Order: sequence, then C-alpha cells, then structure tokens
Amino acid sequence: MKIAKTISAARAFVRDARRPIVLVPTMGALHQGHSALIRRARRIAGEKGSVVVSIFVNPAQFGPKEDFSSYPRPIEADESVCREAGADLVFRPEAAAMYAADASAFVDESRLSMGLCGASRPGHFRGVCTVVAKLFLIVQPDAAVFGAKDWQQLAIIRRMVRDLDFPVKIIVHPTVREADGLAISSRNAYLTPDERAAAPGLYAALRGAATRNTPAAIVREAERRIACIPGARLDYVRLVDSAALEPVRRLDHGTTLAAAIFLGRTRLIDNLQIPARS
Ligand code: PAJ
Repeated sequence: MKIAKTISAARAFVRDARRPIVLVPTMGALHQGHSALIRRARRIAGEKGSVVVSIFVNPAQFGPKEDFSSYPRPIEADESVCREAGADLVFRPEAAAMYAADASAFVDESRLSMGLCGASRPGHFRGVCTVVAKLFLIVQPDAAVFGAKDWQQLAIIRRMVRDLDFPVKIIVHPTVREADGLAISSRNAYLTPDERAAAPGLYAALRGAATRNTPAAIVREAERRIACIPGARLDYVRLVDSAALEPVRRLDHGTTLAAAIFLGRTRLIDNLQIPARS
C-alpha cells in the first residue's frame, strides 16, 4: 500500500494505476463502518483495479463551534485499517495543500442541502461538495463508495455528480451498526457511559415508527419514541423522498426516515429506508 501526502503524489499514482479506480473518501478515525466501505471498494475494483482511500479532516465542512481541532487523527491506526481492508493508496493531504489561504471557488448544491442537517449546519454541505469534487478531480475514480449512514450527504453527492456530469459511479454501502443497533461513528467516542447506553434508542425509535401506516403517524411516533430516550434532545425527524429529500405525503415510493438528536453535547444522526407500500 502506498501513501500520498501531496496532490502531485496522488496524481502520479493515478496516472499509472490500473482501472477501475474506486475511491473511498473519509476523514480518518477509521472504524468498522469505514473498513466495510474499503472492503466493498476492493470487491468492486477486483484484484486488478485500484482502491484509493482519502483521509482528510476537511476544515471547510466544520462550523466555527464544531469539533474540527479536536477531531481524532490516529493516522497510524488508520493506515493499518486501510492496509488490512485492501487499499492500494492512502491519500492524506495537509489542509494547506487542499485549500489556498485565499480560496474563493466552491461547489454549492442549493436545494437538498437546505433541510435536515443542513438547517442546523450552515455551509456544511458546501464544504462536503467542494472537497468531494476536488477528490474526484484529483483521483479521477470510476466509482466512489459512500455510507448510507449519512443519507443526506449521499443524496447531495449524487445530485452533484448528476448536475455537474462527474463520470463517477456512486455506490452506497449499508450502515454498519454495533450489536445494539447504534450506527458506528467516530463521534460515539464522545458519549458518556449513560449517553452511550441511551444512544441505541435513536435507531430503535426509527424502526418502531416505521411500522405506522401514514407519513404523519410515522413522524409522530418517531418523535414520541425519541422523547422517551433519557437525556435526548430532538434536532429533527423527517420522512422524505429518498432522492430529492422533500417531505412526502404518501408511502408509495422509497422514502427515508431521517433523524438527528443531541445526547449531551454529542449530535447523533441516523436514518431508515422505508420501501414503497401500496
Ligand atoms: P466520514 O465521517 O469519515 O465518513 C466517510 C464515509 O464513511 C462516509 O461515506 C460515511 O457515510 C461512511 N460511514 C461512516 N460511518 C458509517 C457506518 N457506521 N456505516 C457505513 N458507512 C459509514 O463523511 C465524511 O467522512 C465526509 O463528509 C467526507 C465524505 C469524507 C467529505 O469530507
């Protein structure tokens, strides 16, 4: 496995790499969710293709009060995860290499980014779109793997790829969970023991609510169940169209039940795909 710390080193790898090139963009602090994505990328690339994992804590997607400086950066452990999961290249640039101090060109998705997490994290998805577009231009992958855990991010990236004609196939990998149902996330490490014990209640609430028969009843039931999670404060619960992320009135096509809560100071997100019902 090779390591590229500069854009030019990544470009040199890409120039000689065998296709398909499959990219897994991450911010590091890699866990079993990430390693599942890398293994998936390995299967897609096959033995002959190339798997590139990017590790970059992207300053552009953190708000001023968010955890950019304290975000964990266990680079040696991350590199072993990449190696064991079958990566061929780890691209881990410095922030200064990715953004000029006076950078003024960005990629902005202007519709799907407004609601859900975008409402409480202004500028977040602009940062995500900009860095993912840059990674696509540097690595020129044939495919890129994203987790279903960040469903809004996935839908926005798909929209960006469609609208800007990136020749990249977007692959979605299911959310990897702890045995008790909690979606694995590097931010779970911030939870106190009591908060950690309460955290699986979020996914349980979504699953319990999804059995209801109308969109309004599903959202109401999810809110009721989240209100019963000790210490939880609701950010949002919405039932939306899985691609356009707009609120739905019917369950006759694929919908996404998405929620965010605060447990203490930690913000947790999760979602559930609800298949079409007649
Ligand atoms: P990060 O939070 O490191 O996540 C990298 C990828 O791993 C994303 O596609 C995310 O959805 C996926 N992922 C995280 N936890 C997962 C889990 N439990 N199960 C399945 N997939 C999971 O998302 C980002 O980084 C950044 O916004 C990024 C796309 C890299 C742009 O900076």
